Amino acid sequence: MLPAELEPEIAQFFFRRNPPHIEITNLCNIACPYCGNPELVSRKGRMQLADLRTVITNLGSSRYTPKVTLCGHGEPFCNPAIYDMIDLITDAKLEVDIQTNGKWPMVPSRLDSLFSAAWIQFTIDGASNAVSQLSRPDTDVDRIYQLIADLVRQRDRRGADTVLSVRMNVFTFNKHEIHPLIRRCVEIGVDHVGLAHGHGTGPPPVMTTVSPRIIDDYPEGYVSMQQGLMDSPPQGAPAAAPENGVASADDPASSFFQRAGCPTLTIRWDGQVTPCCHDNNVSVPLGCLLETPISEILSRENLARATARILEGHEARIESGEVVLCDSCTYLADYLELEKAPKMQWPI
Ligand SMILES: C[S@@+](CC[C@H](N)C(=O)[O-])C[C@H]1O[C@@H](n2cnc3c(N)ncnc32)[C@H](O)[C@@H]1O
Ligand code: SF4
Ligand code: SF4
Repeated sequence: MLPAELEPEIAQFFFRRNPPHIEITNLCNIACPYCGNPELVSRKGRMQLADLRTVITNLGSSRYTPKVTLCGHGEPFCNPAIYDMIDLITDAKLEVDIQTNGKWPMVPSRLDSLFSAAWIQFTIDGASNAVSQLSRPDTDVDRIYQLIADLVRQRDRRGADTVLSVRMNVFTFNKHEIHPLIRRCVEIGVDHVGLAHGHGTGPPPVMTTVSPRIIDDYPEGYVSMQQGLMDSPPQGAPAAAPENGVASADDPASSFFQRAGCPTLTIRWDGQVTPCCHDNNVSVPLGCLLETPISEILSRENLARATARILEGHEARIESGEVVLCDSCTYLADYLELEKAPKMQWPI
């Protein structure tokens, strides 16, 4: 029997704006003070290779999405099966991107697998160890630059086309190292630098913004501005319209997630699906991809059930102080503002 189809606009919303994230582990080898990983409440562990096979099958393989990103609330290279996992994903005709902290050694025997990834982005928060270690403690940034330099050479020797990128989270305390960091990246042959800044990049006391003019100092496309992981519209501003243009606040059939524009469907290491990458402790469980196909997890009925759990009791929870994740999220705040706005009448 053919698996049930996902409704096209649901598939469009959850898979076409951002590729889904697969968290192959929530274990980590750095304890960054601005990341929730060290205080994670939910169980820690690694996805098994056989479980990833089930996840990819139940996700519909390449039917709904051309790509997945290995990223979650941990370091993907803390899962030693990562190379076999890249092979499994590319064998399923899916592209794979990886977001990593770069604190791992090169494994020469697995470079063919590594270079079948489309894109690998290394988070580096400084040009010098003194600054980088303010947000990435006990981590030698020179070793990470050296690893990337070695990978650039090996990639070019093989004629592979994996894009090797660096992401710098720009804070008040490392902003002065933006140019030195980009210069180091140019020197070692990094293909692209992303600067994550502003709202959503770390806690407010160290948050800062970067002038977009910085981009003009470098060859076109070399530097870009990236969203912080926790990026969301400022309180009170309307939520960004979903890019597919299908779901809107006036469309009562769309789920809360579509109407609020919640970002990046995420599959946790144990197969649990959450509607956004912020939900590290799975407070909005949509179902488990190890047991349930995506058509049931993202069915209109299941999304409506999850929506009801989020919206019902929201105000009471705020009053009692017993908030769950979404209660304190700006996507929900913006959604409620939208709901309060007068609805457009039809015909006008
Ligand atoms: C959660 S990490 C996972 C991948 C890998 N461990 C790494 O550090 O790149 C993905 C990205 O989110 C960023 N990040 C972590 N905690 C954050 C927070 N509280 N606010 C904004 N970005 C955060 C990290 O710096 C990294 O660039
Ligand atoms: S940002 Fe990445 S490296 Fe740092 S603690 Fe979080 S998951 Fe680990
Ligand atoms: S409202 Fe909930 S599901 Fe949506 S982005 Fe915020 S935390 Fe994620």
